[in-house]
Amino acid sequence: QSRPTDAKNLILIGMMGTGKSTVGAILAEELGFELVDLDQVIVRKEGRSIAEIFEKDGEGYFRTLETESLRETLQTGGQVIATGGGVVLAEANRELMLENGIVAALSATAEEIISRVTGDNNRPLLAGNAEERVRRILEERKDAYSFAHCTVDTSSLTAAQVCQDILMHYR
Ligand code: S3P
Repeated sequence: QSRPTDAKNLILIGMMGTGKSTVGAILAEELGFELVDLDQVIVRKEGRSIAEIFEKDGEGYFRTLETESLRETLQTGGQVIATGGGVVLAEANRELMLENGIVAALSATAEEIISRVTGDNNRPLLAGNAEERVRRILEERKDAYSFAHCTVDTSSLTAAQVCQDILMHYR
């Protein structure tokens, strides 16, 4: 099956635990696009986990890799790109995304996010007291995702409904 690499990318942003990977997989299938998970691009590039990168080289180094990987990934079209929750923190990244695709933001309530991320030990920013960290990061990033072309609150929707909503904005 040939991939429509000249089609615009569909870029998913949003806080950790809002369902970017799950929804991304369905959307990719639906559109016949490749699914690119930006965290996985970084893991492959580095040959180690996100947790190890944070632990050994710190968040700053991770952010550099993240921007580099985003830039490389956006060289091609026809992809559904699931980003890491912090990709929006750099203005350069926000511009890159807006210039190279349709940006859809996923949101969810703090409670929903906490229930989805609890027990996951590959999210270094949530290590320790995940509940407290989620609340703090949500507060810090409260306006960080609003630059998107569209936002879908996933809290009371099924993954299929979230996808339908996003596709309406993409098409
Ligand atoms: C991060 C989110 C993670 C990952 C890293 C940092 C963040 O991705 O990139 O742990 O700053 O919100 P997910 O949003 O896929 O969990």
